[in-house]
Formats: sequence, structure tokens, C-alpha cells
Amino acid sequence: MTTTLTPILTAFWDEPHSWSRKTYERNGGYEALRKALAMPAADVLAAVKDSGLRGRGGAGFPTGLKWSFLPKPDGGPRYLVVNADESEPGTCKDIPLLMASPQTLIEGAIITSYAIGCHKAFIYLRGEVVHVYRRLLGAVAEAKAAGYLGENILGSGFDLDIVVHAGAGAYICGEETALLDSLEGRRGQPRLKPPFPAVAGLYARPTVVNNVESIASVPSIVGRGAGWFKSMGTDRSSGFGIFSLSGHVNRPGQYEAPLGITLRELLAMAGGIRRGHELKFWTPGGSSTPIFTGKHLDVPLDFESVGAAGSMLGTRALQIFDDTTCVVRAVLRWTEFYKHESCGKCTPCREGTYWLAQVLKRLEAGQGSEEDLAKLLDICDNILGRAFCALGDGATSPITSSIQHFRDEYLAHLAQGGCPFDPSRSTLFEEAFA
Ligand SMILES: Cc1cc2nc3c(=O)[nH]c(=O)nc-3n(C[C@H](O)[C@H](O)[C@H](O)COP(=O)(O)O)c2cc1C
Ligand code: SF4
Repeated sequence: MTTTLTPILTAFWDEPHSWSRKTYERNGGYEALRKALAMPAADVLAAVKDSGLRGRGGAGFPTGLKWSFLPKPDGGPRYLVVNADESEPGTCKDIPLLMASPQTLIEGAIITSYAIGCHKAFIYLRGEVVHVYRRLLGAVAEAKAAGYLGENILGSGFDLDIVVHAGAGAYICGEETALLDSLEGRRGQPRLKPPFPAVAGLYARPTVVNNVESIASVPSIVGRGAGWFKSMGTDRSSGFGIFSLSGHVNRPGQYEAPLGITLRELLAMAGGIRRGHELKFWTPGGSSTPIFTGKHLDVPLDFESVGAAGSMLGTRALQIFDDTTCVVRAVLRWTEFYKHESCGKCTPCREGTYWLAQVLKRLEAGQGSEEDLAKLLDICDNILGRAFCALGDGATSPITSSIQHFRDEYLAHLAQGGCPFDPSRSTLFEEAFA
């Protein structure tokens, strides 16, 4: 438990021209690269493994371990692909990082490429964020002009090019194998695994796919050491992470803190819930993670504790909803997103998300019946664990968890023949429970 922030990735975001190479170097940028290039590549990989860094893209897979799955070099190319798709509702940490401090990611990508023996790395960015695309292109050009990219980097004999690729804007292209298909110029749909990307990824070559924040954490780990990183966070969830607070808080934004911090502590730093209202529900890691309520304010936000409490740490996208929010409506909005973003490859998700949205629409309008709740849970049961990728699983999380915590609110819609939170309706929500 902690009450302090640990600004590392976010340390100089509020400096003028924080995104420039000069600002980055003034703050110690590229010192870790010099250190890494003087080390054997295997030692760099070992440092990241020892640090206990776990993927910051949602699943929390140990980063160094993932790199070590690459087969032995065979003389052919191997790739690093940075996942900058960031399309999960509520998730908003990678894009601010890329805008404020793109050189951190570039330094991380160079060190990672050196560690895994890659000479061509890709940053796959969601297409809608044209301003971020421009910033990244500028940052790569700046790094190249300073000799951090290209041939014989800093006289080390190591060569690396970075390609920034803008996708067309689809949530499924954040799923690592769909991303690879999209990067190869195909329609982005998940691939069957195995083979995993480490064995046959981009262009069927060994590939590491990592989240922006994971790769951006690498320079500080190499620069300050695995022990330093491990001294923060918890035993199995080491280090720090960016917690994105959005919604009904007084000071929404990015709070970089050790894993294991609680929402209660973060809310205290964020000025609390907006005046006159109370916390009703929140997502610990984006819309794909089961919702929490006020009962979960003291759950340590690390992979293990959040899992034990019935949700997932995900991307630490803490969307906060106060007592003015209709949970049924919020869940319907998320479900419509999943229905729209379902890539259509597998039946449980393609058909299931459609029917989930239909049933929820009916319930939110106060139509339908109590049996519809059982129907929703049955459809979720037929998606969870049966869909081809985790998008389908994620679509069920808000529904099952909201029925678990707010069944009465669903029933209140039926009792009232409409949404109790609709200001145009005269009956107050409390009356529905009387
Ligand atoms: C539908 C879907 C969308 C995803 N979107 C992202 C994303 O935008 N960024 C990301 O890093 N990982 C995303 N992931 C997770 C990736 O598949 C992959 O696990 C991650 O990029 C690995 O990086 P990490 O090990 O550094 O966390 C998504 C997964 C799914 C199923
Ligand atoms: S679960 Fe959904 S997004 Fe994933 S493959 Fe199936 S249809 Fe596509």
C-alpha cells in the first residue's frame, strides 16, 4: 500500500516541449541505451526478466519471459512490434505517453530490439490519432538524426530501423495476431494460436509484440536496475504503472504509482468523487474487466489482488461512475461497442454480442421481463471461453458483473417501465425499491 506517486514515465510531461529529444536528453534520456549497448544482449534481457516487469497491455504476461521464447537466431529477420492501438473504452495511457514523451518509447524499442536481436521494429498505432502519428514520425526522425537509429547506433555496430504504421482504427487490431495480419496488409482478424508470434509472427518470423507502456518501462529498468524496479509494487506485480482516472472524479488524469495502490488512495490524490455524489461503480482495467463497486475501494490494484476480488487489472483504466449513472445504460453503451467491434470471425461473439445488445436495449427501455436477465447470463455463458479471442470474453464482463452487483437496478427498470435515472421521468429511483 502506498500514498505516493512514482513519476517515472510521466516525470517531465509538464515541461515545455516535453516530446523533444533535447528535453528527453536533459532528463537523462538515452543514458540507458548507452549502458545497454555496452552490455551483452543476453544481460539486457536478463535484467528485464529479473525486474519482474509484466505486460502493461492488459494480460500481464512477464515481459522478459516473452522475449526469451524467441527461438535461437537462424540468420533470418526477427521483429519487435509495439502495440499502440489503444482502443479499449476507458484506456487512455499510451496515447498521452506518445504525445508527451515519444522518445521514452523509442529508447525502449531500441534497447528491446538490441536484447532480442531485431533490426526492424514497428510501432502499430490506431489510425484515428493523426496528431500522435505525426508526433511519432517526428520523434523517429529526431532520434535518427542524433544517431540513435539507423546503422551502427552510437558506434556499437548495432543497426535498427523503426517503422511507424497507422492502422485503420479497429479495436480488434489491438489483439496481437489481428494486429500482425493488419500490419501485413490483410483484414485484421485474430490468428489461430499456436503458433505464437514468438515462433511465427510478422511475415511468419519470430516476433515480440509488446504494449507501449511495457516497452517504455525498459529504459528505466536497464538504467536503474532490476532491483530498483522490484523495490516498487508487490511481490508478483512489481514496479509502477500509469493509472488512468476518468469520469466523475474532480481531477481526472494519469496517476503513475506503484502497483498495489488502491482506488481509495488514488481518489484522495484525484480530489475525490465530484461534490455531492458518491461512488457507485468503477472499472479497474477498462470496459472488458468486471466492474467493482464502493466495496472494492481498498482492493490493492495489482494483478493478483484484483483477480482474487473477481476482476482483472487490465490496463488500469479506472472509469469512475457516481450515483447519477444508470448502470444498465452504461453496460448497454459498452455492449454496443463490442457488437460494433466484433470482427465476425467466430459465431459466439458475432451473434452473441448482437443478441446481448438487443436484450439490453429492451431492458434499458423498461420492456422485457425478469427472464431476460437469465437470457443475458445464458448468452454470456455461451460466449465466455468459447469465443476465438478475448474480445468476446471481454464483452461479457460488464454484463455478468453488473447483474451480480446491481440486479435490483435492472428490475427497477422493469418495475417502472423505463429508466429510473431518466430526468424526464417523475418517479425517483429510490421509489422503485420502496
Ligand atoms: C480485443 C483486444 C484488444 C487489445 N488491444 C490492445 C491494445 O490496444 N494495446 C495493447 O497493448 N494490447 C492490446 N491487447 C492485448 C494484446 O493482444 C497483447 O496481449 C499485448 O499487446 C501484449 O503486450 P504486453 O505483453 O506488453 O502487455 C488487446 C487484446 C484484445 C483481445
Ligand atoms: S471473439 Fe469476436 S473479435 Fe474475436 S475472433 Fe471471435 S468474432 Fe472476432
